[in-house]
Amino acid sequence: MRSTQVCDPVDTIAMASSMPRMSDSRNWFESLPESRRRCLPNCTHDGIYLHVDGRRLVNFASNDYLGLSTHSDICRAAAESIERSGFGSGASRLISGDCPELHELEKELAGWKEYEAALVVGSGMLANLGLLDALADRHTHLFCDRLNHASLVDGARLCRGHVHRFPHLDSASLEKLLGHLEAAQKIIVSDGVFSMDGDTADVFALLKLAETYDALMVIDDAHGTGVIGPQGRGLMAEIGACGHPRVIEVGTFGKALGGYGAFILGTKEMIEGLRQRLRTMIYSTALPPSMPAAALAALRLVQEGELLARLQDNLSNFFHLAEQVDIELLESRTPIQPMLIGDDAAALRASQDLREAGFFVPAIRPPTVPEGTARLRITISAAHNEEQITSLVEALSKVKP
Ligand SMILES: Cc1ncc(COP(=O)(O)O)c(C=O)c1O
Repeated sequence: MRSTQVCDPVDTIAMASSMPRMSDSRNWFESLPESRRRCLPNCTHDGIYLHVDGRRLVNFASNDYLGLSTHSDICRAAAESIERSGFGSGASRLISGDCPELHELEKELAGWKEYEAALVVGSGMLANLGLLDALADRHTHLFCDRLNHASLVDGARLCRGHVHRFPHLDSASLEKLLGHLEAAQKIIVSDGVFSMDGDTADVFALLKLAETYDALMVIDDAHGTGVIGPQGRGLMAEIGACGHPRVIEVGTFGKALGGYGAFILGTKEMIEGLRQRLRTMIYSTALPPSMPAAALAALRLVQEGELLARLQDNLSNFFHLAEQVDIELLESRTPIQPMLIGDDAAALRASQDLREAGFFVPAIRPPTVPEGTARLRITISAAHNEEQITSLVEALSKVKP
């Protein structure tokens, strides 16, 4: 017979009073110091401007590197899709949330990026969590750059594999780690363009190591897609290694492509394997059809090349002006241009001073970046004009350390 244990409320109260008090939902989390608190700025977008706290600021804080998020072709494509198919997808792709736009987009992406196949998923976070979970089991060893994006860090942490972290961009240390381990399955995992530093992985060296040590390579080129390499096809295209059978590439639509969602590229066997196993796609509602419809329009615009040329002009102008007034930036050839401040409170002050001057540039602080490396993360877009860049540099010269 099944016995049901019933707590005597009097005993429970007596027991609780002799134990340290447990937190309830009001004091579960430790409070954070003011300089570490994150706040949601509740801003309204107006092209390259942001309205925050009643002020109109030039936005130098967006990953919309080509200005596509407000492009009329993309907005029209999304609106027409909503007219045709409504808004929500209603279910996971495997049930009834799939749509022709997702398939067309996968075909277009694979063709543009020169991989055999592509799989579109809900977001970059979901792509990386699901991908590492699907690839790794307890026999797998993952070799991860120490500054990888949180989605790769968490993906590695949550999958069943063994995680080894190598110092940022240090291929020699990575080689030592790979050489010391006899593992059945090895995967090198790295950002392409690093989101907080703007520097780039040496994908050529990583791929050589993958070949030498019989490993797979997962490269998340979320910030390289649309802005680096021939036609903006990213870092792997720059070294002519797209479609390599050891490479799985991740990218997102939320950055230079101006929308929302993500994709995984690889061999047709790998993508079919992921279609069967990617829990973050199988058990998550599909993107609304308007998202792939907008992404298709974005891909067409990127391939015209005009926006990328404008971005490159803006970056050259920014470098030139910053050099003239001795602004020291971290080494980066990408639209992510960080100015190191160091101290958290000083970074917040600098960001506030820039706001007063009419610019939105966030202070990025630990734990997003390592201790003592708080910074202003400036992002340049094709949508900025010359005057906005000139005035930003003037304002930066007044807040530089
Ligand atoms: C390198 C990298 N990967 C993945 C992501 C996550 O992408 P998403 O915003 O689509 O979840 C980000 C985004 O912020 C990123 O910087």
